[in-house]
Amino acid sequence: MAAYAAAKILYLSVGFWLILGAESYDAFSSNRLTVKPGGSVTIPCYYDEKNTQLKYWYSVNDECNTYTNTTEENLSVIDHPDQSLVTVTMRNLQEKHTGEYHCGVVPGGVIYKIYLQVQDVPDVSVKSSSVSGHEGGNVSVQCFYSSGYRDKQKRWCRFKDEKCFREKKTNTSKNSSVQISDDGESSFTVLMTGLTLSDSGWYYCSAGEQILPLQLTVTTSESVSVNTDTGTHPDRWRFCLSHS
Ligand SMILES: *[C@@H]1O[C@H](CO)[C@@H](O)[C@H](O)[C@H]1NC(C)=O
Ligand SMILES: *[C@@H]1O[C@H](CO)[C@@H](O)[C@H](O)[C@H]1NC(C)=O
Ligand SMILES: *[C@@H]1O[C@H](CO)[C@@H](O)[C@H](O)[C@H]1NC(C)=O
Ligand SMILES: *[C@@H]1O[C@H](CO)[C@@H](O)[C@H](O)[C@H]1NC(C)=O
Ligand SMILES: *[C@@H]1O[C@H](CO)[C@@H](O)[C@H](O)[C@H]1NC(C)=O
Repeated sequence: MAAYAAAKILYLSVGFWLILGAESYDAFSSNRLTVKPGGSVTIPCYYDEKNTQLKYWYSVNDECNTYTNTTEENLSVIDHPDQSLVTVTMRNLQEKHTGEYHCGVVPGGVIYKIYLQVQDVPDVSVKSSSVSGHEGGNVSVQCFYSSGYRDKQKRWCRFKDEKCFREKKTNTSKNSSVQISDDGESSFTVLMTGLTLSDSGWYYCSAGEQILPLQLTVTTSESVSVNTDTGTHPDRWRFCLSHS
């Protein structure tokens, strides 16, 4: 009887370990992100449209505090149901914020994991985490990497479907709408040509397991002409008055 119970416990604990083992091998568990102290980062979290009830975000170091639909000084968790996307922005990052973070949905559970490290020199960085281009035009993004990542694979990926592009040495890539060229020293440049409105969204630059998210906005020529008309923008107007 006791042997049977012991065998059952062993069986259950083996099952438990198998589940944990499988979880630690999921596609996103190796994503790492480095940010300098005082910096901020936005992490996009795309969910399945069926799972629209509750979206949450927490630090594994502090699972008691789970955030949903939050707008605070140093953290915002904002849902964009039209894009099936939650964006999590963390600001004023300090070394104590280093750790693993999860984004999840109810029902469904954790859908994205990332390990954030706050360090003086980020391993992958960009000048601006938001870029824009016109429909039919081109956009180029320069992604900088630290010396330890010179020999690591460089990629440009779209978050929504995890579609990635790598540097190709062959001429066939000249036809591709995405070209990547690595200077082999400190940066690689991604050129996206012939932009379409559906190219809008969140992408990441990646060197090895390090990623850096950035947002691409593709505008029609119509909305560009509205955006450039900043002369009567209320904020601009107030700025002018306060300096007169
Ligand atoms: C998120 O919070 C805002 C402001 O408190 C509120 O207006 C909105 O309804 C909330 N959205 C959801 C999905 O809870
Ligand atoms: C935001 O971060 C800054 C810098 O660490 C800190 O001084 C401030 O208290 C934080 N704000 C909140 C609301 O936690
Ligand atoms: C976009 O890039 C392609 C390929 O480099 C180039 O032929 C084309 O002239 C560029 N278009 C614009 C608008 O810069
Ligand atoms: C490949 O590119 C090189 C350099 O641009 C060129 O000399 C060569 O002819 C190209 N080969 C093909 C098959 O297009
Ligand atoms: C390469 O470009 C040509 C001319 O734009 C186009 O007709 C062809 O379909 C492209 N090939 C591929 C594989 O994208």
